[in-house]
Amino acid sequence: MRDLQQVLNEIAAEAAGDEDRGVVAQYIPELAKVDAKQFGIAVTLPDGTVLSAGDSATGFSIQSVSKVFTLALALGKLGDSVWSRVGREPSGNPFNSIVQLEQEKGRPRNPFINAGAIAVVDLIMAGHQPKEAIGEIIQFFRHLADDDSILIDEHVARSETAHGDRNASLAHFMRSFGNIHHPVDHVLGVYFHQCALVMNCRQLSRAGLFLASQGRDPVTGAQVVSEQRARRINAIMLTCGHYDGSGEFAFRVGLPGKSGVGGGILAIAPGKASIAVWSPGLDRVGNSKLGTAALEQLARRMDWTVFGA
Ligand code: DON
Repeated sequence: MRDLQQVLNEIAAEAAGDEDRGVVAQYIPELAKVDAKQFGIAVTLPDGTVLSAGDSATGFSIQSVSKVFTLALALGKLGDSVWSRVGREPSGNPFNSIVQLEQEKGRPRNPFINAGAIAVVDLIMAGHQPKEAIGEIIQFFRHLADDDSILIDEHVARSETAHGDRNASLAHFMRSFGNIHHPVDHVLGVYFHQCALVMNCRQLSRAGLFLASQGRDPVTGAQVVSEQRARRINAIMLTCGHYDGSGEFAFRVGLPGKSGVGGGILAIAPGKASIAVWSPGLDRVGNSKLGTAALEQLARRMDWTVFGA
């Protein structure tokens, strides 16, 4: 096996020289301002060691990567009843698509498309005011990253609220089928704040470590989710984590992964590592272009896969 730090240095150097970096998300004006030249990568190992390269200490908007963690939070609070409100099939459609919602009576295909994540937020909000739910979500991230400095970027949350017509449509549509229980503006307020969490690659890879370690944080000893649940979250990341690019990601990288439109990706090599990569330029389906390429190289050079012996 190659020396991990050396591999990370090589990958960061290759990324720095790549001219074809994709396009930064345009539909959230605050994200459109981010410099596309940045690239960071971090790997947290089961003993808690964090190795990194590039802009791994620069914070970015984690956006949809947050959906992995809110799913874990909802499953912890409500158990398998979550699955009565949201499915676990790949959608084969863009992350903000509405087409299947009508045919499937307001039950989103999976918890990682926007509609599914909004339904998960509605579940987390049970018995809470929006502010309390936001507090609970941020505490969960701080606990998992073992870092109380993690914050939400209010500018990003506001920018998304001001341009959130598509998500509002999804939420109202689901509510008309009885699959959103709280007022839509409350649910969206929590959802936009969750997406506006700022983390760097080192923090994000640390926060995902439980998924590489049978549901348990091996550093603190906390059992975050059961072993079976960690396997299942990884399965949904593999099949649904990159929307209509999930098959391509599995083909190229061979690890469960979850992308965000801020250019972050969390990938899990079970038993071996939790990996976070960030580069803001996106490919045609909204996943980080250099981030995907970096994970493809890392998995190949370290021989990390869920499909091997
Ligand atoms: O709701 C949205 O559109 C964004 N807050 C999150 C979408 C996202 O990150 C899609 N990921 N590639």
